[in-house]
Amino acid sequence: MASRNIRLAVVAGDGIGPEVVAEGLKVLDVIAGQYDLAIEKTSYDLGAARWHRTGEVLPDSVLEEIRGQDAILLGAVGDPTVPSGTLERGLLLKLRFALDHYVNLRPVKLFPGVETPLAGVTPEDIDMIVVREGTEGPYTGVGGVLRKGTPHEIATQESVNTAFGVERVIRYAFQIAASRPRRKLTLVHKDNVLTFAGELYQRILKQVAAEFPEVTTDYVHVDAATMFFVNNPARFDVIVTDNLFGDIITDIGAAIAGGIGLAASGNVNPDKTAPSMFEPVHGSAPDIAGQSKADPTATILSVAMLLEHLGLPEAARKIEHAVGADLTERSGARSTQQIGDDIAKRVAG
Ligand code: NAI
Ligand code: MG
Repeated sequence: MASRNIRLAVVAGDGIGPEVVAEGLKVLDVIAGQYDLAIEKTSYDLGAARWHRTGEVLPDSVLEEIRGQDAILLGAVGDPTVPSGTLERGLLLKLRFALDHYVNLRPVKLFPGVETPLAGVTPEDIDMIVVREGTEGPYTGVGGVLRKGTPHEIATQESVNTAFGVERVIRYAFQIAASRPRRKLTLVHKDNVLTFAGELYQRILKQVAAEFPEVTTDYVHVDAATMFFVNNPARFDVIVTDNLFGDIITDIGAAIAGGIGLAASGNVNPDKTAPSMFEPVHGSAPDIAGQSKADPTATILSVAMLLEHLGLPEAARKIEHAVGADLTERSGARSTQQIGDDIAKRVAG
């Protein structure tokens, strides 16, 4: 009998989702053999295909079943044939809110051998982690529309920030910062214009900072942050920011660290009151779906984050090292499956 049982919900999703998830699971199976893990996978058919077939996005019964799992691996959902927002709000955001994924963790790390569009930048310059708030800000859906379709239409989309929500994400960011060699935490916001929310973030940052005297803190406006990502990424170690700003700056982060095919993420419930969800930052890429052209590396790195979250840091490091070695020696075009095979082989040692 395996020493540890892990119940894994697999939501492969649409487009390239199933292709990259298959490679993530391939690597996970190798790790499972090495660490005596029994991975009990349950696949959930969710996404554009199900919506077209049944009109369902995320039935409550499925959500409750997923709640009983230990973790979730998600590929990507979305398709141009589904009205915008249907799956983003009804599936992704519903999972993040219902399972209280209040930390959206997005490492931005340039691996050796990977090309960055930035001139003169080395892996030492790009090694940060963005802690994006996941359950509040402008993404809560608070707001509405009046007089729709008329010249007098009114659309409001409010940013919701609670002291409770801001404090817990800031405390988590401090813990991450305290565990890293540089021990630096930067708040990214726009407190000169979004004065109510910005001031709340600033005030709570100062309060929580008292518990972490070893961590230095600073503040950067989000617009300036986008500039520093490009001309001075080395200034960042750990960033804490709200939902929308985090969404935007991590796309720049993915771009400077070798592209969307490498960017991993975790939707984390640090209190472990519900399963956390790990997924590549990219979407379903309908333009390359079904052609074995997708890079599964982001998904494989997301599997490493999943293992780390489940308390298996050694297994996580092993996958990261295998990915690092694969990236260093990368040359020529390989299929999705070939990249997965090559990384799995390195993990197998
Ligand atoms: P996308 O990330 O799917 O694609 C953007 C570009 O990056 C495309 O040219 C694509 O071919 C390329 N790309 C993406 N992943 C790649 C990979 N692993 N390897 C190589 N190239 C890759 O973003 P896009 O086109 O804006 O959205 C497509 C669909 O995905 C939409 O329906 C969108 O709503 C959805 N989406 C879903 C997300 C999720 O499930 N978490 C996140 C982002 C978008
Ligand atoms: Mg995004």
